[in-house]
Amino acid sequence: MQEFVGVAMSVEVRQHRNTYQPLGLLAELTHRCPLGCPYCSNPLHLDQRAGELDAATWARVFHEAAALGVLQVHLSGGEPGARRDLVEITAAAHAAGLYGNLITSGVGISASTLGKLVEAGLDHVQISVQDSGADSADTIAGYKGAFARKNTLANEVVRLGLLLTINVVVHRANIERIPAMVELALSLGASRVEIAHVQYYGWALENRAALMPEREQVTRAAAQVEELRRLHHGRIVIDAVVPDYYARYPKPCVGGWGRRSLNVTPSGKVLPCHAAEIIPGLEFWNVKQHALADIWENSPAFRAFRGVDWMGEPCASCPRRDIDFGGCRCQAFALTGDATATDPVCHLSPHHDVVAKLAIAGADVPYVYRRLASGRPSSTAIAEITTR
Ligand code: SF4
Ligand code: FES
Repeated sequence: MQEFVGVAMSVEVRQHRNTYQPLGLLAELTHRCPLGCPYCSNPLHLDQRAGELDAATWARVFHEAAALGVLQVHLSGGEPGARRDLVEITAAAHAAGLYGNLITSGVGISASTLGKLVEAGLDHVQISVQDSGADSADTIAGYKGAFARKNTLANEVVRLGLLLTINVVVHRANIERIPAMVELALSLGASRVEIAHVQYYGWALENRAALMPEREQVTRAAAQVEELRRLHHGRIVIDAVVPDYYARYPKPCVGGWGRRSLNVTPSGKVLPCHAAEIIPGLEFWNVKQHALADIWENSPAFRAFRGVDWMGEPCASCPRRDIDFGGCRCQAFALTGDATATDPVCHLSPHHDVVAKLAIAGADVPYVYRRLASGRPSSTAIAEITTR
């Protein structure tokens, strides 16, 4: 039985009510995954299966999220298909009135499970593809046969009448094939393709040298995306996330810390962003002990960088401080050792030279693949998922 302290929560919430309201909740249902993508944003130390929240707790979290104003839940992982109770969890999200988006590797969800998810009220599916061709895609994923399985699931999603987004993470090994990846998304019947350059947290930070493209490649890719948007206007929506390290200003990471979204980890910790645990000294509260509203309003981690009071110069007096919120706290910490620093991606940061040096550090070196919580290579995990 989970401990729950709703009464104490209501007092605290009145004390600290802030003006921000979350719109999206990332539900990391598990860290288990059959793939081993070298840019995975999951932490290096993955939550164990035994500590994962049960479906009843997720249902309670979804209802609390809806009461807080959340509109959309992203059922994610790891690979959410590794959860035996995914249908039950999806139904709970639907019952809470949330728009349910399944973010899947495409490996580990059968056609029959997908049918049940649709019956449970799933609204949308997002499938990641690693490249436009099977060999390269499977190499990047660290799993032979992944590309074929993704294609099969994508076809099934469209056949069942769900909206499909194809997500492509772009890096050194596939950046030259953006047009081919958009063609693939079109051929699969996707209504949207998201082209996101690697963000260097978690495993991507570990693999930064192997993943970092050259500046010329990034410039060419940006022009290609614009051309593809013109070419395919009205057929598919193309979203693009520019690579931080080549930008002049940082991105408004997660829409600003503690302003728009929250992440719940497999074990129930609630984070302002998926990488927040890399910042030492932050205190994260858990849905096992606190109501979501209490965590949103009062947890030390959410309050640490909310608003502008924590900012030093140059952000504190900068006219863009309410546009990009000083950039990414996790990146600031990763690159300067100080989570309150201006994101070094910003050309106004006194540490901007660090980014300039890293941006030319790409090299053809082997990947360090993401491992399972058990320490086994991800490629052995498919048996665990398909035989359950
Ligand atoms: Fe954004 Fe700070 Fe740079 Fe201004 S100085 S653009 S607020 S990161
Ligand atoms: Fe944590 Fe950007 S990833 S604030």
